[in-house]
Amino acid sequence: MIFTVAIDGPAAAGKGTISRAVAEAFGFAHLDTGALYRAVGVKGGDPVLAAQTLSPADLARDDLRTLEAGQAASRVAVIPEVRAALLAFQRRFARRDGGAVLDGRDIGTVICPEAEVKLFVTASALVRARRRWLELGGDAAERSLEDVLAEVQERDARDMNRTDAPLKPAADALMLDTSELTVEAATARAVAQVQARL
Ligand code: C5P
Repeated sequence: MIFTVAIDGPAAAGKGTISRAVAEAFGFAHLDTGALYRAVGVKGGDPVLAAQTLSPADLARDDLRTLEAGQAASRVAVIPEVRAALLAFQRRFARRDGGAVLDGRDIGTVICPEAEVKLFVTASALVRARRRWLELGGDAAERSLEDVLAEVQERDARDMNRTDAPLKPAADALMLDTSELTVEAATARAVAQVQARL
């Protein structure tokens, strides 16, 4: 069965959690496409070459989830040749047999416009920054909430304003604002949207 769930949205909106829950609920494969850009960003050197030669070892690095890796990812993600180098792999993954969930910024608009379900997951910038800050340790974190908010807003602005594959909802995406939802409620809504279209 070919069935793609495209989950896009800004940083720390809950895409990863929701994607993993949807994949688990239906036995679909999951691809966190942000990890591809993070791996290119932290690899260093020529980003186009890094994207063309990305290996499983690059994707297994344990420093991919840092704020710095997120910033590095969004800087290389504006380069059309980097995006082009990562496209075929993502498309093949999306249309693999058995169902797939991909989360990112341009899955519903560019990578898989034919996706059976498109979700655009959002939350207010402050809610998203707070979640990311709590993940980093909250009061024990090295960054203040204000720093994390500034970082999240800077990254969103770069992702939304780039020319190639900017962050935006597909015309036919279902909007899911998680600002006021618990993780359980947000994932339950996403699972129900997929269930309704299976
Ligand atoms: O989702 P995550 O925070 O891991 O993404 C890191 C960065 O990678 C994003 O800020 C964005 O610049 C880039 N990205 C992208 N297209 C995707 C996924 C991520 O441009 N499909």
